[in-house]
Amino acid sequence: MSRLLLVTDLDNTLVGDDGALQRFNGWFKQHRQTYGSKLVYATGRSLKSYQRLTTQIALLEADILIASVGSEIYYPGYKLDEAWSSLSSLDWNRAGIVAITQQFPQLILQSESEQRPFKLSFVLHKEDAFILPELQAQLIIQGIEAELIYSNDHDLDIMRRKVNKGSALTYICRAPRFAAKQIVVCGDSGNDIALFAVNKLGIIVGNARTELLQWHQDNLEDDRYLAQANYAGGIIEGLKHFGIMHE
Ligand code: GLC
Ligand code: MG
Repeated sequence: MSRLLLVTDLDNTLVGDDGALQRFNGWFKQHRQTYGSKLVYATGRSLKSYQRLTTQIALLEADILIASVGSEIYYPGYKLDEAWSSLSSLDWNRAGIVAITQQFPQLILQSESEQRPFKLSFVLHKEDAFILPELQAQLIIQGIEAELIYSNDHDLDIMRRKVNKGSALTYICRAPRFAAKQIVVCGDSGNDIALFAVNKLGIIVGNARTELLQWHQDNLEDDRYLAQANYAGGIIEGLKHFGIMHE
């Protein structure tokens, strides 16, 4: 047993089953105390929306918060990592992206709080998702290299190329204080694919969405575990599978 860097998405991964969340919290608190383990939340939510969630649900305090689908990183006290924000902003042509998205009536802007300095977010219904290749093509024609991340058959996030949860994780791990086998990532949807792409040891919860399941099938990895149980129950199942949790 050794210390662990546990990186987890929130909505429909850690959050979704209050009983299982409580069991996870109890176990992690102990693990953190004994081994100095660290907890990272990697969420699509903005800081504001994350803070709202913390008033609704009993979440442990995270050591690091990766917010807004990887475009922002916060440390305790909600201290923004400004160096990461500067990297996220390189070549970021917001006006150019907005102009192109306006050509697609299927793209409906999400609420103001989810529009971030380096992230634009839309609702895009499943039946309209066929526009994605055309949108990508238009961006390329205009010389804009953007990251399009589609999740939940509903949410489209546009960020600068290579800004996502996975690159944010790589950034916070640049000082190698944890060995690869001590880092576990957990997720349920499209915006978590980047986490699984950069880290072998992973847990996909039982309630995962089709876009992640499809990617998993296409990129099988022995150290990625597909749980039967949902939400935090799936995380617990995976941690037991890897021999990290015993109870
Ligand atoms: C969260 C964010 C939203 C984003 C979605 C998928 O719900 O609030 O802006 O589109 O995650 O990444
Ligand atoms: Mg999720």
